Amino acid sequence: MLSAPAQKTDTRLGRIVRLLMDHATVVVSGTKIADEIGTGRSEVWRLIQQLRSLGVDVAGHPASGYQLRTVPDLLLADLLAPLVKSTVFQHIHHYYKIGSTNSTAMEAAAEGAPEGSVYLAEEQTAGRGRGAHDWHSARSAGVYCSVVLRPILPPSDALVLSLAAGLAVRAAVRELDSRLNPDLKWPNDLLLDGKKFCGILTEMNAEATRVRYLVIGVGINVNHAKFPDDLRDLATSLRLISSSEWSRVELTAALLKSLHREYTDLVGKPGAHESILRRFAEHSSYARGRKVHIEENGAFEGVTEGLDPRGFLQVRTERGSRTVLSGTIRAI
Ligand code: BTN
Repeated sequence: MLSAPAQKTDTRLGRIVRLLMDHATVVVSGTKIADEIGTGRSEVWRLIQQLRSLGVDVAGHPASGYQLRTVPDLLLADLLAPLVKSTVFQHIHHYYKIGSTNSTAMEAAAEGAPEGSVYLAEEQTAGRGRGAHDWHSARSAGVYCSVVLRPILPPSDALVLSLAAGLAVRAAVRELDSRLNPDLKWPNDLLLDGKKFCGILTEMNAEATRVRYLVIGVGINVNHAKFPDDLRDLATSLRLISSSEWSRVELTAALLKSLHREYTDLVGKPGAHESILRRFAEHSSYARGRKVHIEENGAFEGVTEGLDPRGFLQVRTERGSRTVLSGTIRAI
């Protein structure tokens, strides 16, 4: 099936928002904005209308000039870039609508997108999860983010990097609200109050001995107030848990910074691999001593026994110990 073309955000929108934020207390004339972004006043008016359609609250009109009424929470490159200056994430792309940020990131990586390219969307029309699952991607409610990495690592380390991404999400959430204590469910779910608020989909292109490129896609339910019927009992959002609205810009910046730390440690610091496995198990109620049902080429049940040195989950069953390679786990 052909998907609708991705709708990339005009980078001039971010520059206008930045300019208005830098002059938050005054009305900025259309002429000044036009000069700054190298266009005419009527084009500025058109761009302001576009910002309004994205939910940015801008007061004013061409004759009076423009002023932001509230700080917008759009994941625009111009808003994020200053917050993640010291990281590998230096190529930020924003879409107001996309099929899947992971698909776009994989295609871009195949065409040579540099390490540290980030693909963010306000809305996904074909968000993908592990297996054949969809990822519910309501407009401007969540963080839908995929990053391209080109680690000098064997493909067998991709799982550990993916587990590290879970730790990075956990750290980012706690940086914004230290009262929350997300539970990691192997391999890539994050739960609060037993319900999922984040999923991670790591995909790669590799030779037998080396990764060519890898895409880590993170979906976080941030400000969702409700979910479709089929997800209601399984999913939650940071807003539902904390009873307050979250800044997606701050959360994404915190995520990229903690992902940068985990990633640079893993590729460059002795002992980082072991540290990731240890910390994952520490923050996962599923890693050890949990009775689980596993769906993997048929189903089986057992009690979890920790992660093996490669990051795979070990489960003790009636017929001996088994290694879970890619299954879906459910507590029983
Ligand atoms: C899962 O829980 O199975 C993984 C969900 C991953 C969803 C994210 S949203 C951003 C990125 N783009 C996608 O299509 N999927 C990932």
